[in-house]
This record gives sequence, structure tokens and C-alpha cells, in this order.
Amino acid sequence: MTVDAVDYKALPKIELHAHLSGSISRQCLHEVWLKKKENGETDLQDPLIKMPLGKHDYDLKTFFPLFSSYIYHLVSDIWALRHTTLSVLSDFAADGVVYLELRTTPRAMPQAGLTKAQYVATILSAITEFESDPNNTSQLKTKLILSIDRRNTLPEAYEVLALCRQFAGQGGVVGIDLCGDPARGPIDIFGPVFEEAKRTLPNLGITLHFAEAEASGTEEELLTLLSWRPDRIGHVIHLNEKIREEVKRRGGMGLELCLSCNVHAGMICGGFESHHFGEWWKVEETVVVLSTDDVGVFGSPLSNEYALVAKHFGLTRTDICSLVRRGVDVIFGGDEEKERLRGLMWSA
Ligand code: IMP
Ligand code: ZN
Repeated sequence: MTVDAVDYKALPKIELHAHLSGSISRQCLHEVWLKKKENGETDLQDPLIKMPLGKHDYDLKTFFPLFSSYIYHLVSDIWALRHTTLSVLSDFAADGVVYLELRTTPRAMPQAGLTKAQYVATILSAITEFESDPNNTSQLKTKLILSIDRRNTLPEAYEVLALCRQFAGQGGVVGIDLCGDPARGPIDIFGPVFEEAKRTLPNLGITLHFAEAEASGTEEELLTLLSWRPDRIGHVIHLNEKIREEVKRRGGMGLELCLSCNVHAGMICGGFESHHFGEWWKVEETVVVLSTDDVGVFGSPLSNEYALVAKHFGLTRTDICSLVRRGVDVIFGGDEEKERLRGLMWSA
């Protein structure tokens, strides 16, 4: 069978690296804006003008302010948080995603009187609402990863860990992440938080943004991150030979690779064909999982990421099926979920 015969949307897929606020479609942001405008609650520009459809060339300099000075001012109350979360879930489901680990940085919304714990609880309740909706025919199951932002103080990072502890028991939160502007640092202050996570919450997965930019790709930073014993790492761009070997030596580490994000944001040199997916996807010691990162910003749904690797790296249908299936090994959602997913996955 030829590569072209694969229906990438119908292919059951897992998404392990998606930021909630970065996954909101522009249409959905527009709906939030309209409601705020009608209520006289915003002077912000219409999202369809601020972020025109088809504009995906955000780089590391323009990308992070988009959240702090725009999207966070739109998604600033319970209604908007619930509405955007439901929309993100429905977009992933429509793209054939059957398991999603959505990550988000807990954010208090002072004007709406919302604490960080209520922020997390609101998202979890939107997930439950989506999954129990009788009109929802999708197979999508969603878990949450809570992110520490590189800009956080140590007490703020401990707060994220406390929220993981609070919500992990109910099965909603399955992991902790380090994200944010790679130009910010140093990150070693967070070591004790990840050490405590490993020691006191052994079932909580650890995933770290890793070597995303040259500034965050120094050997010193990467050895520090690896010393926190992550289960998965994201982006994995600026690695020297020593770090590459160290990543392989760990055995079974998940690599969350985000092609469109890296190409559109100019994080790698060259186009899709020069992406480091080509270097890693056949490496037996690691598990590559294709991911979207911020589909609302970069515009490429997961189905398209699979189509891209097939096109640029010549993966056959068999390769595609085994790529998705291998990813199941590194989810944080537990053995029962892995069994469900293996039952859903296409065999080559
Ligand atoms: P949120 O955590 O749900 O609010 O999603 C948006 C946040 O995710 C941004 O403010 C960034 O801190 C983080 N983020 C999104 N994409 C990236 C990335 O590619 N690298 C690092 N951080 C990111
Ligand atoms: Zn990311």
C-alpha cells in the first residue's frame, strides 16, 4: 500500500505535547473576544485581525508575548476557560486523537476571583463534561500535565507541585513539565522541586522542554535537566554528541518532536526535510512521539504532522502505524489506558 493511502485523520493518534492556551483555535478566541466585546469587557483587537488565519510565522521573540500580553487577557474568566478547553478537546477529537495529555501553567485569574487550584479544577471539569457528553462519539480521553514556567520563582514552582499532588489522586493530573521562554534561566533552582516530585509522587510523569534554543541547549543545562530523571523530553534540538549519547543511554526516553512549530518558528535551520525527526525516529533506545505543541498558533493539526513525516522522510503505512503504537509506551496515563490504546491502534 502506498503512503498516500493513509487517512491521517482517521488514524487513531496520541498527542503528548500540547499547551492548552496555545491550542485554542483563532475562531474560538474570536468567540471569546466577541462575548467580551458585547459585555464591554475588552479593548483588545479581534483575534482574527491580531492573528490572521494563515499567519504561523511566530518566532521565539514574538511567540511568548502573544500569551502574556494577549491570549491571557482574553481567557481571563471561568466561562472563557471552560469554553476554550471544550473547543480544544473537540478540535483534537475531530482530528482523530484518541489520547491527549494537555499541559498548562496554572494561572490565577484575580479579576474573576479564580485561584490556581480553581483554574486546574475548571479544566478538569471541562474534560469530564466533554467525556460524559452523550453527543460525543469520539474515543478521546484526556489527562493533564501541569507546567512550571522558567520565569517562575521557586515558591511558584512548589505551588505547581502541590497542585499536581492535589489533583493527581483524582487521576486527572498525570505529569509535571518545565516550559516557557528558553531565553529565561537559569533553571537549576527548580532541581529540588523535580527531585521531590520523583521521590514523593512516583506515578507522576516528568517531561521537560529540552534544548529548544541555543540559549537553553548548553551542556551544563542539559546535564542538569537529565539529572532530574525525566521520562520524556520535548523539542530536543540543540544537542551535542555527548548529550545525544546520554539521552540514548537512559533507554526508553520519550522524545516529543514538534515539526511544524520548529520550522515555522525558525527554531531549526532549513525546512521539514532537515528536521531532527529524521535522525531519531529509527533510534531503538528512544521513543519518538509526534506532537503539535501549539496548534492554535502554528496551525498544523496532528494528522498533518504525520502526513509531513511520511512526505519528507518516506515513512510507509507500516512505519506510521508502528510509530503511533510505540508512543503508547511513554504515556503517563497508566497501564489500563495503554491497553485501551493498543486495542484502538491500527496494525500495519
Ligand atoms: P498555557 O500553559 O496553557 O497557558 O499555554 C501557554 C504557555 O505554554 C506559554 O505561555 C508558554 O509558557 C508555554 N509554551 C507554549 N509553547 C511553548 C514552547 O514551544 N516552548 C516553551 N514553552 C511553551
Ligand atoms: Zn512546548
